[in-house]
Amino acid sequence: VAVAEACAVTDARSMLAAILEVAEDGIYAMTLDGTIVAWNHGAERIYGYAAEQILGKPVSLLVPKDRNEEMATILAQIRRGETIEHLETIRLRSTGSPIEVWKWVAPTRDDRGHVTGAVAIVRDVTPIQQALRQTEESNAQLRSQEEMLRQALKALRKSHEEQKATQLQLIQSAKLESVGRLAAGVAHEVKNPLAIILMAAENLSAAIEAPDPDTAAALADIQDSVRRADSVIRGLLDFSTATDLTTQDEDVNEVLERAISLVRHALTKSKVTLVKEFEEGLPQVVLDRTKIEQVFVNLLINAIDAMPAAGGTLTVSSFRDQVTEVGPGIGHRRTDTLRIGQSVIVVTVEDTGTGIDEQAMARLFDPFFTTKPPGKGTGLGLAVCRSIIALHGGTIQMSNRAVGGARATVMFQSSRR
Ligand SMILES: Nc1ncnc2c1ncn2[C@@H]1O[C@H](COP(=O)(O)OP(=O)(O)OP(=O)(O)O)[C@@H](O)[C@H]1O
Ligand SMILES: [Mg+2]
Repeated sequence: VAVAEACAVTDARSMLAAILEVAEDGIYAMTLDGTIVAWNHGAERIYGYAAEQILGKPVSLLVPKDRNEEMATILAQIRRGETIEHLETIRLRSTGSPIEVWKWVAPTRDDRGHVTGAVAIVRDVTPIQQALRQTEESNAQLRSQEEMLRQALKALRKSHEEQKATQLQLIQSAKLESVGRLAAGVAHEVKNPLAIILMAAENLSAAIEAPDPDTAAALADIQDSVRRADSVIRGLLDFSTATDLTTQDEDVNEVLERAISLVRHALTKSKVTLVKEFEEGLPQVVLDRTKIEQVFVNLLINAIDAMPAAGGTLTVSSFRDQVTEVGPGIGHRRTDTLRIGQSVIVVTVEDTGTGIDEQAMARLFDPFFTTKPPGKGTGLGLAVCRSIIALHGGTIQMSNRAVGGARATVMFQSSRR
């Protein structure tokens, strides 16, 4: 203790006595073997022992059994003349209940500097620690509540997005319906004149015995153009009249075989290798054979068209599966045609072609969306496929394969027999 020179020894003693008297902390002194020899009011309040109860008793009374070793270490340190700066530990009240304390212990010395014992200062931090723990707990609670709120917000956002998507779908299908009606009307009007023009052109070229090259070319052009116009018109009619289905139980593999035989020529011409992976003994599917054939032919031709000039591999698979993932037309919404867990027959058409870029992906099924040169594609193929498949209570999806190229996936509900 730093005391000014002028301060007499008696003053120092009375100062110490005053400190012991007013200190809120517990202060006690002990001998080197741990016998308690001084005990202030603070210690009395913290430990619950009055001075006369504890003086001459071993300090181990204050120490929980499992911390006896800690006390032994402290005494050993004191004997070496070391100070214990700040120890956070547990002690016992006279009632046996534990208290959390912070402790400082310093050795006491005689005139010659020999260590005679120690003085310990003890602060009861039980209430502080409890308050700290409570704060931490309520912080954790706050955090978890915040997390719950965040989750709820996320769920809300998601359902809002879903609602918006359904609304868009509804608007889209309403639009398509009116486009379809319009198209059907126009197609009917145009179909007959086209047939007449075609017939006339054929008659003309038959009637002219040896036409000059220009006339012959012009006649051929007329016939070509009319045929192209006719195929557009037919596509439109397909699109708008897909509603008339003639269905019966069919074997999907047979329908696939027939569709493949229709594109056999295109396969050879484009040097495309065909791989068939059909699962045997699939359950039958209720479908309109001609319409589904048309869907498969469309997908096969799309795949062939996407292949590089050097050729590629076209893999057609059929298998049974269970719906596991929510997707377009799959889920729990009223407008969804397939439910999670439902048994389905799946047909996939995979190619090793260009794949589909993100912009095209969003518009593939739009009527008249095509990336093919004028005169080559009408852009009605996938739109027709989708409306036909939807009428069958199935789904159709286009995706990119991880290995490059695209995949068409068609799912049918298997007939319940
Ligand atoms: N397997 C595929 N790989 C890459 N792109 C594809 C594939 N299938 C379709 N597409 C893209 O989708 C577009 C639309 O296809 P869709 O079948 O509707 O029309 P189309 O083939 O262009 O014309 P149509 O079928 O009327 O002759 C294609 O132009 C093409 O860009
Ligand atoms: Mg197509």
